[in-house]
Amino acid sequence: TVLVVDFGAQYAQLIARRVREARVYSEIVPSTMPVAEMLAKNPKAIILSGGPSSVYAEEAPSLDRSLFESGVPIFGMCYGFQLMATTLGGTVDNTGAREYGRTQLTVSKNSSTLFEGTPVEQTVWMSHGDACSAAPEGFTVTASTDLVPVAAFENDEKRLYGVQHHPEVMHSTYGQQVLEHFLYRGAGIEPSWTTGNVIDEQVAAIRELVGTKRAICGLSGGVDSAVAAALVQKAIGSQLTCVYVDHGLMRKGETEQVEKDFVAATGVQLRVVDAEERFLKALAGVSDPEEKRKIIGREFIRVFEQAQAEIIAEAGSEGGEPVEFLVQGTLYPDVVESGGGTGTANIKSHHNVGGLPEDLEFKLIEPLRKLFKDEVRMVGQELGLPEEIVQRQPFPGPGLGIRIVGEVTKERLDLLREADAIAREELTAAGLDREIWQCPVVLLADVRSVGVQGDGRTYGHPIVLRPVSSEDAMTADWSRLPYDVLGRISTRITNEVDEVNRVVLDITSKPPGTIEWE
Ligand code: XMP
Repeated sequence: TVLVVDFGAQYAQLIARRVREARVYSEIVPSTMPVAEMLAKNPKAIILSGGPSSVYAEEAPSLDRSLFESGVPIFGMCYGFQLMATTLGGTVDNTGAREYGRTQLTVSKNSSTLFEGTPVEQTVWMSHGDACSAAPEGFTVTASTDLVPVAAFENDEKRLYGVQHHPEVMHSTYGQQVLEHFLYRGAGIEPSWTTGNVIDEQVAAIRELVGTKRAICGLSGGVDSAVAAALVQKAIGSQLTCVYVDHGLMRKGETEQVEKDFVAATGVQLRVVDAEERFLKALAGVSDPEEKRKIIGREFIRVFEQAQAEIIAEAGSEGGEPVEFLVQGTLYPDVVESGGGTGTANIKSHHNVGGLPEDLEFKLIEPLRKLFKDEVRMVGQELGLPEEIVQRQPFPGPGLGIRIVGEVTKERLDLLREADAIAREELTAAGLDREIWQCPVVLLADVRSVGVQGDGRTYGHPIVLRPVSSEDAMTADWSRLPYDVLGRISTRITNEVDEVNRVVLDITSKPPGTIEWE
């Protein structure tokens, strides 16, 4: 394991991902973790992340000097670099000279462990106020910039390395190479980690944990729950039952994809609950977005709980093994963000899940809690899940219910399903699926406009296309799709979907617009 010590400001997750891209397993730990605890994890190397503080700020996080004397190879980046400098007796000045963004780095010693084979002049990403002016004793300065005399240093004997910039950021052209030089050369680690190891490890661990007992898993149709279920299925086979609630708000072909393709690929026992009527009844006459969301959320939980309770009752009445485990598709970013990044156990007890009897204690199985999203997709692929499931773009839980502006009815859903299927088909055919984050297709059910088709006047509804590009859905930009693709989608939707006589394009970024319309 390589430990990434998190000094805040989101850099740690990116570093951990880059380390794994170098095929070395990494985990994030908070900077408040005592050094003894870090060392107890037997790390092969430690990386100190950047962070928002100045090393001179009063509350600035620090590190005990003993870490640098432990013999474990250490790589400090940005804040981590300055902390290494000050802790070991170098000088960091509050110069007031800020470097932010793309910066030219001059490598002064490219025979160095970190920079060997990279150009003397290279672009790096900087984000700092203080600057290091003198390296600690025993260290060689290996790079500088116009404003920073000591922009990188290393001490090969003690296996301590540092750079002022952010090698984990894409804009640092040789960043990944510098990181790999540290891992392979500086720390002498063999790159061997793959998602394949994850499958074997998890399958063995889940088998041992579950024994002969049973587990259940809710499938949403999304990537995470599908991969989690497939992994657990591989471990315990028919001891797992999956529940899928069809609320009638799915897109065309999605329920069939879960019912047929997912089952065909995994052989999982699946219980599909057809709840369309129930959802449409509950949604009748409602057009307020928040109210729709509440109704859909509430009904979903009720239906899901009922199915769970039935499975548990059936298991009991057959005198079989009790249902003791619940599978969830929690990912590593959720774990880190909820402060659980240090936990190594992938199993924890959970009381009173979703309204089941209070005395029923479920144990959670979260086989993906150490993985990033792209790694989950790789695991899915290795497990043989269909491409359509593994590469699925995000889709909101409330489904098409929040893509009809106005009341949700069966007729409107069918109409939107058709329009959405056409847009998806054309985007896929144009090879744009990986380029866009997602493309909601929205029906403005309460709006009508005049058109002309054949030789008659029409009075139909508009369809909105909302293609966006994004990294994490927190912010987004509208995607500049090729005109010919947009043209084909528009022509086909107006020709093939009754009651739609106009297609419009949403060109709002987020903020101010959200990705979904409701
Ligand atoms: P907004 O519209 O807030 O959406 O910009 C951000 C991302 O979240 C998805 N989304 C949801 N996902 N349940 C979900 O599972 C929801 O209720 C929900 N609402 C929005 C949306 O599709 C986008 O990817």
